[in-house]
Amino acid sequence: MNDQAQRLREKLGKLPVRNNRSDENVGRTKVIAVTSGKGGVGKSNFSLNFALCLQQKGQRVVLFDLDVGFANIDVLMGVSAKKNIVDLIDKRLSIWDIIEKGPNDLEFIAGGSGLSQIFELDEVKVHYFFEQLAQLQGYADTIILDTGAGMSKDMLRFLLSANEVILVTTPEPTSLTDAYALVKMAHGQKPDIRINVVVNRVTNEKEGRVTGEKLLLVAHRFLDLHMNMLGFVHDDAHVSKAVKKQYPFCLAYPTSKAAHDLKSLVSAYLLQGKMEDNVGIKGFLSRLRTFWK
Ligand SMILES: Nc1ncnc2c1ncn2[C@@H]1O[C@H](COP(=O)(O)OP(=O)(O)OP(=O)(O)O)[C@@H](O)[C@H]1O
Ligand SMILES: [Mg+2]
Repeated sequence: MNDQAQRLREKLGKLPVRNNRSDENVGRTKVIAVTSGKGGVGKSNFSLNFALCLQQKGQRVVLFDLDVGFANIDVLMGVSAKKNIVDLIDKRLSIWDIIEKGPNDLEFIAGGSGLSQIFELDEVKVHYFFEQLAQLQGYADTIILDTGAGMSKDMLRFLLSANEVILVTTPEPTSLTDAYALVKMAHGQKPDIRINVVVNRVTNEKEGRVTGEKLLLVAHRFLDLHMNMLGFVHDDAHVSKAVKKQYPFCLAYPTSKAAHDLKSLVSAYLLQGKMEDNVGIKGFLSRLRTFWK
């Protein structure tokens, strides 16, 4: 473990309980980008609650708010972040200075309102940004990037660089069409992209399954791309209630349908999630460097 990680742990106090981890996975960090074609489909709520459920399963997770312009993960947690990525770059802070804690001690990095600046950096700043991100190698088991919707060039870089993508869609045709457009574009640039599909706001299980299958089938038929159906989350009024309360729905309403769905989805994800060769923040960063050019 590097010294800075140790120092941060000391600074942050109590170590989270780690279980369900096989030794071979220790020290390897998986980067997951959560995205969608259309906006407002539930990415941020999913990212936050997915992170918390992974943490409850013993994983060390860092949630990274990368939604340019609309960064709001801290609002969903009812905490106001004191530092963010923009501070990291502008004030040359270290990554350990900008990691904050939310409910259940979930570690997160806030986006900040000037986040779009980070994509217009000069070489020195880009290098510094990468150098700081690299410090998270081995510190976290999983880094979750809550990216913005749509197909901006900047977001695409993160999608293409991540070890895998979680694509959130709702059953609405507009959301599905936009999701497919995103898949098509990402696949065009990275044919072996690993995409997990989550169908959010379903009325019942059948709708979740049928919607997911539709998207998987189209990608398979027209792009020859095999995507993975990760699961679905019911449309549940508790989600909106939790947003108003500014507390994650999995914690505020642990017995709600949405919380139950998230828990089963995370269990399934961990079962399937045998660590792959391309895992690791170094791989992520080297791809990010390539796509940055
Ligand atoms: N499973 C659900 N059941 C009911 N409502 C939901 C569900 N998921 C999300 N919502 C509603 O959708 C709203 C938007 O969710 P969220 O902010 O997570 O979307 P987003 O995809 O991150 O949006 P943006 O593209 O603007 O970043 C929430 O405030 C909530 O009211
Ligand atoms: Mg969002």
